Amino acid sequence: MKEKLKAAFVEQYNTEPLIVRSPGRVNIIGEHTDYNEGFVLPAAIDKSIYAAISKRGDYKLGLYALNYNETIECNMEDIRPSKSWSTYIMGVTDQLLKKGCRISGFNIAVDGDVPLGAGLSSSAALECSVLFALNELFSLGLSKMDMILIAQKAEHAFAGVKCGIMDMFASMHGREGHVMKLDCRSLEHEYVPLKMDGYSLVLFNTNIQHSLASTAYNERRQQCEQGVAWIRERWPAVNSLRDADVSMLRTAVKKQDELVYRRCLYVVQEIQRLEEACEDLKAGNLQALGQKMFLTHRGLSKEYEVSCKELDLLVDSVIGRKEVLGARMMGGGFGGCTINIIRNDAVEQLSGETAAVYKKLTGIDMSTIVVKTSGGTEKLSA
Ligand code: GLA
Repeated sequence: MKEKLKAAFVEQYNTEPLIVRSPGRVNIIGEHTDYNEGFVLPAAIDKSIYAAISKRGDYKLGLYALNYNETIECNMEDIRPSKSWSTYIMGVTDQLLKKGCRISGFNIAVDGDVPLGAGLSSSAALECSVLFALNELFSLGLSKMDMILIAQKAEHAFAGVKCGIMDMFASMHGREGHVMKLDCRSLEHEYVPLKMDGYSLVLFNTNIQHSLASTAYNERRQQCEQGVAWIRERWPAVNSLRDADVSMLRTAVKKQDELVYRRCLYVVQEIQRLEEACEDLKAGNLQALGQKMFLTHRGLSKEYEVSCKELDLLVDSVIGRKEVLGARMMGGGFGGCTINIIRNDAVEQLSGETAAVYKKLTGIDMSTIVVKTSGGTEKLSA
């Protein structure tokens, strides 16, 4: 991947680039909790976005996406959001300019093997790779945490998704063989070894993504904020759903709006569930962890309503299989992948069977990705 990108870059821009790799991510448990100041349990994976970059002598950007075989050139003052892949590169560049970082024109080429739109955070990986590359190229002196926050702002401003911090954090800070328990309020994190003992993390990709995903995402976030606002009328010290409990929700939210209550109930339970699931993982109790994943899926599907029939079908089809310890939809929802804990010797047969059922009932091909953990964003040696 790196060699191919380097060769394409040299052919396009006639100079040797600096190359950065930034991975996609999975999340074991703790979904839609990051923007509620809760915890998440992601890991960076062995699927990455690669960015090759070099300086230009002017104030223009030359952008090249190998997998779309598309090049774009624009002036720095013409940077604006669009529906194209380039919006992520423009978005982080725009944030750097707004922060007063001293950058001039650059050429960049990107490539990668993170499946797009599959809920593996290809966009965060792209943003992080570009930021890291620009930070190196122009010696901006930004820390990984600075870059995480800049990438999140870029996603809000240019992609229009009011996302939390999980995806960028996981991409930047991944560590091979580990998941990260991230406290999204304090931003403190702890690495927890991922002991899989005869089991694998397997993704089943629905290969669909509904267009309402980003609107629905922002709407869920608003509903959580509404719930907090009602709680605060009675308990002003509550700043987020992290501070709330079920009895507060019953007293202050249920009578106002049943739907907002259900949304908040899922989040409060999920924050609690993650604490316990993380203890299960530390104790090597994958059975107990897997059971919690099924509960998370039910909450996401019935209370939070961010699943879809294809995701539900993939989870339902593995429930009760003794070789599967847990399964749930992963990420923002409305498409993308389910994450499963499957016994190693059963992965191939089970994914074949599931794909056949899925094809029969939906007409769509399902793909399987066996996930390995990886390190975070890094500069690659020449
Ligand atoms: C998307 C967002 C994350 C997070 C997840 C749901 O991936 O980008 O910030 O909210 O959805 O857990």
